[in-house]
Amino acid sequence: MPDWLITGCSELLTLRGSVPRRGRGLAELGLIRDGAILVHRDRITAIGPRRTIERHKDARRAEKLDFGGRVVLPGFVDAHTHLVFPGSRAEEYEQRISGKTYEEIAKAGGGIRSTVTRCRESSPKALREHARACLRQFAQHGTTTLEAKSGYGLDWKSEFKILDVLNQLHQQQPLDIVRTFLGAHVVPPEYRKRPDAFVDLLVKRWIPTVATAGLAEFCDVYCDAGAFTVAQARRILSAGRACGLVPRIHAEQLAHTGAARLAIELQAASADHLEKIDDADIRALALSNVACILLPGCCFHLGLRDFPPARKLIKAGAIVALATDFNPGTSPTVSMSMILSLACTQMRMSPAEAIAAATINPAYSLRLHDRVGSLEAGKYADLAAFDVASYREIPYYFGVNLCSLTMKRGAIIHSKKR
Ligand code: NIG
Ligand code: FE
Repeated sequence: MPDWLITGCSELLTLRGSVPRRGRGLAELGLIRDGAILVHRDRITAIGPRRTIERHKDARRAEKLDFGGRVVLPGFVDAHTHLVFPGSRAEEYEQRISGKTYEEIAKAGGGIRSTVTRCRESSPKALREHARACLRQFAQHGTTTLEAKSGYGLDWKSEFKILDVLNQLHQQQPLDIVRTFLGAHVVPPEYRKRPDAFVDLLVKRWIPTVATAGLAEFCDVYCDAGAFTVAQARRILSAGRACGLVPRIHAEQLAHTGAARLAIELQAASADHLEKIDDADIRALALSNVACILLPGCCFHLGLRDFPPARKLIKAGAIVALATDFNPGTSPTVSMSMILSLACTQMRMSPAEAIAAATINPAYSLRLHDRVGSLEAGKYADLAAFDVASYREIPYYFGVNLCSLTMKRGAIIHSKKR
């Protein structure tokens, strides 16, 4: 792999500075005009104005890579995906358009449970190759690190199959994948009449095995109407924490349950969704280190009007992040730029806030902020270059992919001719 001297960054968004970003700090991009980056192997060795970097002692030996005036930012860090699943649920999409709700479809045996049935029947190879194709698309859209959850298996064999596929993919392709065990996605059909017996199984058997075998870094629960209660989620996430799996939680999406408060109580890495939180929750979240991961792709795809209260969270000082929630039921998109567009127009985040919420803050929520999420000497050379005149045009041109080059750990993994 050559060392690179990257020039021609009309706007270089470094995102250097305080971590995590809160309040007004969220809009600080650390922008350098006519910037340059020096890369040695997988790391950034120097970054700054072109004139300074060109004079660096290692600059002459490096291979020149002229971006010709593109806008360059850290590769997106997508901190909430359900990457491994067997295929789409486009029939349900059509049912929802004609009036059925997500909850009604789930109650009738569709929704997550229908993906679970198909996932159990799928071979590891089929799941892996589907996910691998999706990862290529993530890379083409500028994402360089992502979190991925299990949760479409819900029996031990199938949950293991998903976590193992994630491990293989992490080794075999360039993007970094952080694994989350979501054995508590919904109560599986075998345990429908005795959900607490399923919670016992998770707490006593599956979670300790996942932790001791090193199959995941985080543990998640879908805590909502139609899924797990706050009391059940507390048991599951505490069991995870006790053996080293840091909690994340699907909280307050469909109903106001108290899940956001639970995230604070358990010092979770993140509380995700948050459509239904109230002002008291917002104040409490702002005083905590729980990242509030907002998933506007879900509201958009489900056709719901109530997006999470991003402005209030930012004003109160909470750690706000954005993610795709890539999954076949509520948010089938790999595009972080589309998520930025939704964040700007539907939640009134500024383009600068949205970019910080898609890079450095999610890196913090994954405990990877020492390596990714900003462009600074010592960090991975993970970056995305966009064919736009200003960073504001990334969300502005919605629904098109303007990412023309993606670099992961110093290797070009996507490049589009202009
Ligand atoms: O984050 N809410 C739970 N999990 C996913 C939906 C999964 C599905 O519908 O398949 C979510 O929205
Ligand atoms: Fe999700």
